[in-house]
Amino acid sequence: MTLDFQGRTVAISGAAIGFGRTIATQFAAAGARVFGCDILDPPADLPPGIEIARVDLLDRAAGAAWIAAVEARAGGAVDILVCNAGGVAGQASKPLEEVSDADWDRVVDINLNAAFTLCRAAAPAMKRAGGGAIVTVTSGAALQASLTGVQAYCAAKHAMLGLTRQLAHELGPHGIRVNSVAPGFVRTNPATERQWAAYGPERQRQLVEGIALKRLGTADEIAKAVLFFASDLASFVTGQVLSVDGGK
Ligand SMILES: NC(=O)c1ccc[n+]([C@@H]2O[C@H](COP(=O)([O-])OP(=O)(O)OC[C@H]3O[C@@H](n4cnc5c(N)ncnc54)[C@H](O)[C@@H]3O)[C@@H](O)[C@H]2O)c1
Repeated sequence: MTLDFQGRTVAISGAAIGFGRTIATQFAAAGARVFGCDILDPPADLPPGIEIARVDLLDRAAGAAWIAAVEARAGGAVDILVCNAGGVAGQASKPLEEVSDADWDRVVDINLNAAFTLCRAAAPAMKRAGGGAIVTVTSGAALQASLTGVQAYCAAKHAMLGLTRQLAHELGPHGIRVNSVAPGFVRTNPATERQWAAYGPERQRQLVEGIALKRLGTADEIAKAVLFFASDLASFVTGQVLSVDGGK
């Protein structure tokens, strides 16, 4: 089955690389007009139908201004908002007493606070339009301890899931659905390559052995779950989290 997003405006945070880029590519292939933002420069080889703006979501005003700019370019509401930007900001596991305020704040800012900012900015026009869909990209770390060992990452992803569930109830009466995709570990970018290499062969083997399907997933498989939640196939689904992790 092919999903059709013709005429839909999609806004995706963190769209330059990794899951965000793949999600953008799948929405564009399904006919959507796709706007992304990222702290990184847009890649030169983006497929047609995708525009990426340089935005640092640590700056909440810049995040809100990006949503306003997308609405102005699209001539109306964002129909589908994907809060994908996040990650561990280059941090690795360290003892709690060694985590600085700046380390903690940065991870909470790019995951939880960025999602809050973008939802808050996009919701008014969605309400006026009478509907919309928001998908947050959380993690297995939203449901249990994180493989990364980064305390702020686990806490922020749990909180993003709380935001998802709360907004589903607040925005449901306006026809706006809010759901979350919780990916398992996927090798998507230099940071996850470093994480994978740091595990070493024995822990890599154990990680794959602990997955029911006995393999790591792909960015394509994560993106498909996002498109499902955004589509009419999920028209009566809200406040839910879908683990896309090969079965834990
Ligand atoms: N790859 C995995 O194994 C995995 C597993 C579970 C969840 N996730 C989550 O999926 C999402 C995408 O992860 P990924 O692995 O594809 O890439 P990633 O974690 O490297 O980063 C996501 C994107 O967010 C962007 N970003 C970071 N800080 C930003 C800022 N201040 N302003 C704007 N954009 C910013 C990055 O440039 C990148 O494009 C993240 O939220 C991540 O936490 C990833």
